[in-house]
Amino acid sequence: MTTTEDMTTSLRTILEKYETSRDNLIPLLQDIQEHLNYLAPEAVAMVAEHLDLSENDVYGVATFYAQFRFHPPGRHRIKICQGTACHVRGGGMVLDAISRKIGIVPGETTPDGNISLERVACFGSCALPPVMVVDDTVYGRMTPRKSEKLIEDLK
Ligand code: FES
Repeated sequence: MTTTEDMTTSLRTILEKYETSRDNLIPLLQDIQEHLNYLAPEAVAMVAEHLDLSENDVYGVATFYAQFRFHPPGRHRIKICQGTACHVRGGGMVLDAISRKIGIVPGETTPDGNISLERVACFGSCALPPVMVVDDTVYGRMTPRKSEKLIEDLK
């Protein structure tokens, strides 16, 4: 995705696959996010127009779901599991430690665009709690200290 024009063209291609029914809102947003990695303001505006909704309606629904992002993800994506198995083994402490270290809360990206932080419900690796995923690599049995060391190299 290099220019706004490219973005608009690919968004049009995605929109054409969906009939103008409000029922298509979530699948459409998921499709766009898969393509762009986030929901750009231009995308929200085009979805609203396509489905004959207001942009506020689209934001209202999209912000209800944790899966949608409204800013481009960082070069590195850190996801920390807060599902039950991970939570009882200290997933919250790992999340707090990382959050403090890089100075952002889940859902944000560092101002230099290097790291984005996400809270996830379950990765399906519940035998290794607490679990943290850095880009596509899964790390189990994390501690605050181990998780901090892991991301030092990402800077
Ligand atoms: S609860 Fe964390 S991987 Fe399942």
